Amino acid sequence: MSAPGAESIARARHAAGLIDCAMPRHVAVIMDGNGRWARQRTLRRVMGHRRGVEAVRATVTSAAAVGIEYVTLYAFSTENWKRPQHEITVLMELLERFLHDELPTLLDNGIRLRAIGQVERLPASVRKSLQDTIAATAHGSGMELSLALSYGGRDELVAAMRSIAQSVANGSLAPEAISAADIQGGLYAPHLPDVDLVIRSAGEQRLSNFLPWQSIYAEFVTLEQLWPDIREEHIHQALHAFAKRQRRFGAVEDA
Ligand code: FPP
Repeated sequence: MSAPGAESIARARHAAGLIDCAMPRHVAVIMDGNGRWARQRTLRRVMGHRRGVEAVRATVTSAAAVGIEYVTLYAFSTENWKRPQHEITVLMELLERFLHDELPTLLDNGIRLRAIGQVERLPASVRKSLQDTIAATAHGSGMELSLALSYGGRDELVAAMRSIAQSVANGSLAPEAISAADIQGGLYAPHLPDVDLVIRSAGEQRLSNFLPWQSIYAEFVTLEQLWPDIREEHIHQALHAFAKRQRRFGAVEDA
């Protein structure tokens, strides 16, 4: 289990032209365009998802190589349960296979896996693979990869509000004492830092219920390529775009 060291990260950044660039700590990725990719080739939608796994691999390894600390992938939203059963089944199979097949890559790169979302809604076999891979990678000292699975941003906030309401009801928290930290504490992964960069493929510019609390000051970069065509160069392109942004977090530049 060896996360890329400082020298290896510097080499990868140099090769990508990212030396002395401001880098995001937390990158969130909305993988869009699998269906369109398949349709353009008169293939079934699920073929787009299958090819999309290669883009997942390229994204994860290229982000780890340049030293990104946190990557969160929108792999399956709460809304995705409304898709045809066959498509859901294929997505679950792909996920299970990914968790199995990519374990060596995760270990080689010191990547810790976790999941956020209503994981209890996933099929038992996927939950088991998820638990196994999370346990196997728990000691990785490099990037943290979160898979958003059966994830919805509003559901996440509703769950956080419920837990705050319980604390108020049992008298352990006064309503006037409720703070942003209490809401953060009720999220699926409270330790995750705010998202710095949201990357979305397929030319779309929507957040689609993805990490709304965590993304309030995120920079948004749209890649024109459909998700199955995304490779390392496109992730570098998004990181370059991020480095050019002026982030003021609502303040003025020379206060
Ligand atoms: C959106 O494309 C993509 C998804 C709903 C699923 C993403 C899943 C994968 C990339 C493969 C499996 C994931 C992992 C982590 C192994 P879409 O179907 O909405 O595309 P469209 O808008 O062109 O129809």
